[in-house]
Amino acid sequence: MPSTVREYQDAILKAKKEKGFAILAHTYQSPEIVEVADFTGDSFALSKKAMGITEKNVLMCGVRFMAETVKLLSPEKRVLLAAPDAGCPMAEQFVREEIEDYRADHPDVLVVCYVNTTTDLKRACDVCVTSASALDIMRKLPTDREILFIPDCNLGAYVQAAYPDRKITLWRGGCPVHAAISKEETVAAKAKHPTAKLLVHPECKPDVTALADYIGSTSGIMKYAAESDAKEFIIGTEISVVWHLSYRFPDTKFYPLSKNLVCRNMRLTSLPDVLAAVKGEGGEEIVLDEATMKEARVCIDKMIELG
Ligand code: 13P
Ligand code: SF4
Repeated sequence: MPSTVREYQDAILKAKKEKGFAILAHTYQSPEIVEVADFTGDSFALSKKAMGITEKNVLMCGVRFMAETVKLLSPEKRVLLAAPDAGCPMAEQFVREEIEDYRADHPDVLVVCYVNTTTDLKRACDVCVTSASALDIMRKLPTDREILFIPDCNLGAYVQAAYPDRKITLWRGGCPVHAAISKEETVAAKAKHPTAKLLVHPECKPDVTALADYIGSTSGIMKYAAESDAKEFIIGTEISVVWHLSYRFPDTKFYPLSKNLVCRNMRLTSLPDVLAAVKGEGGEEIVLDEATMKEARVCIDKMIELG
């Protein structure tokens, strides 16, 4: 049995080849997981990547909704989630019946959902968006319809700020990691690093995003940092992004906006979990019935059509 990080990584690389697995690691995964992955990126980018690969087995290192989205886009593949307990409180905060009840009272509403949500909730939605495509897709939706934007009210508030004349309804909640960052700690981080650029995810609250030099998705933040001439950045998203950027750009300083920007669910995947899954001894296969997948695909297909 392996007993060091390096030995685990070697065993995973060998087993995934033997068993015909592709490993997908969300950007918020730890570096030791990212190193054994075939692809790393944000959730929707990974799902699209999986569509074009030859491997029949796909292992998602991330949270449940990400593995479900891979399955929805590649139903013919066997998709496993490495850490079955890894959920996302933001993605899972509503149930489909709440949307259906709202629709019954507001028959003209268009339900727009962040692709980062459950398969079941997607079944009740009209169109998905990613944090990168939200503003663009909103522009293409009819202006005379009310929009119910779920499940992240802070991403919704970011969209609302860009379209102040539209009727956009937001509900409670948000990402407990990003939304926990306060304006006060953001002001303090800027005061501590006055020449650093502040890059934040739109899942942060509006009084935090208002202070940012750049608001964007995880991949947007990484691209901005890669292309900027600045040498210091405060990173307002999950702390692993600071680690990844620090490895890639050793001459640049990256500071976490807060030490609390740690997603416990993203930290649940371990190298032993990955090894067990690729050996057929662990992980959980994502099983969705045909009818559910068909219904949930409608809002994803609409996003692809509009995007
Ligand atoms: P994306 O992968 O869609 O950027 O988002 C992941 C996430 O969990 C943001 O908090
Ligand atoms: Fe969910 Fe927030 Fe963790 Fe992303 S960072 S997986 S939105 S809890």
